[in-house]
Amino acid sequence: MQTKNYTFFDFYNNKVELSFEKDYFSKQPKHVWVICKYKEEWLLTRHEDRGIEFPGGKVEERETADEAAVREVYEETGGIVENLVKIGQYKVTARNDVVIKNIYFAKISTLKEKDHYFETAGPVLLKTLPNEIKQDKQYSFIMKDGVLTNSLQWLERHREEL
Ligand code: GTP
Repeated sequence: MQTKNYTFFDFYNNKVELSFEKDYFSKQPKHVWVICKYKEEWLLTRHEDRGIEFPGGKVEERETADEAAVREVYEETGGIVENLVKIGQYKVTARNDVVIKNIYFAKISTLKEKDHYFETAGPVLLKTLPNEIKQDKQYSFIMKDGVLTNSLQWLERHREEL
């Protein structure tokens, strides 16, 4: 089935293309972003520079994107991924880079308390995500464009299957 793709501009006015078709932009993307749920709450991380965001990062040389997703969730939140579903992909065309990221939905079974969280101040649990996230300085810019809103709508439409 042909699904709809999306194009919009992010917080910094970079072009973002988003697709929920399988591997639409790349089979081997170098970045991952993971929308996490722990029990009934969203699990995010407080990035030291960017603010609150769903965990994610770069795929390392000897790992797959799926492995990077599991690793980043643990490093940034202490969350153990129980179930990982790849839901889509987006491409950001920034001034000097093109970044392609896999988007995942992950169910987290356990939240381990750690002494150190890689580049972050650790987990943030939220019952609901704020409506006014775009105006909220606590939140990272990566939470402020159509990637989050469209991904949440996609998750809502596919709730039964996840
Ligand atoms: P380092 O290379 O680790 O220093 O990080 P970086 O932020 O310079 O590089 P990265 O390759 O992660 O991202 C390059 C640029 O792409 C960023 O400066 C952002 O403008 C953009 N970018 C990266 N990730 C995202 C994202 O999830 N959403 C949006 N909208 N832009 C992103």
